[in-house]
Amino acid sequence: MATQRTLSIIKPDAVAKNAIGEIISRFEKADLQVVAAKMLKLDDDKAGGFYAEHKERPFFKDLVGFMTSGPVVVQVLEGEDAIAKNRELMGATNPKEAAPGTIRADFAETIDANAVHGSDSPESAEREIAYFFGADEICPR
Ligand code: PPS
Repeated sequence: MATQRTLSIIKPDAVAKNAIGEIISRFEKADLQVVAAKMLKLDDDKAGGFYAEHKERPFFKDLVGFMTSGPVVVQVLEGEDAIAKNRELMGATNPKEAAPGTIRADFAETIDANAVHGSDSPESAEREIAYFFGADEICPR
């Protein structure tokens, strides 16, 4: 499997729990490197644009409300099979279904506030990384 990049977001609930370091540590221990990172307070337009594909879903308004409720940390993670590896570390979307030891099992309580986001395909990763980072903000080792 080739080296990939994926977009990770540490969501407002996990930032509020002071869990940024613990979550990033899990990525690093799994051989994912942080090659770009920033803390942001999203507004409705930025969060709504990011989740535009879910605009018609019943939870869209709540999702945007949650993602704008406090700061987030967005990162680009790089490593072998980074997209699948990150999603495995994250666990299932619904924390109640997340495997023990995953980030969502350990740091999230509800599907509305589930600690982390990770790109779900190479196409999403490319789009999502470009949504938050310019090429000059990514620093491969
Ligand atoms: S899909 O169809 O597989 O793309 O949808 P899914 O991955 O399940 O969810 C997409 C994002 O919406 C969030 N989500 C919710 N937010 C609030 N309330 C409810 N009920 C809800 N269900 C799903 C979910 O956390 C996904 O966000 P990201 O940031 O992509 O993980």
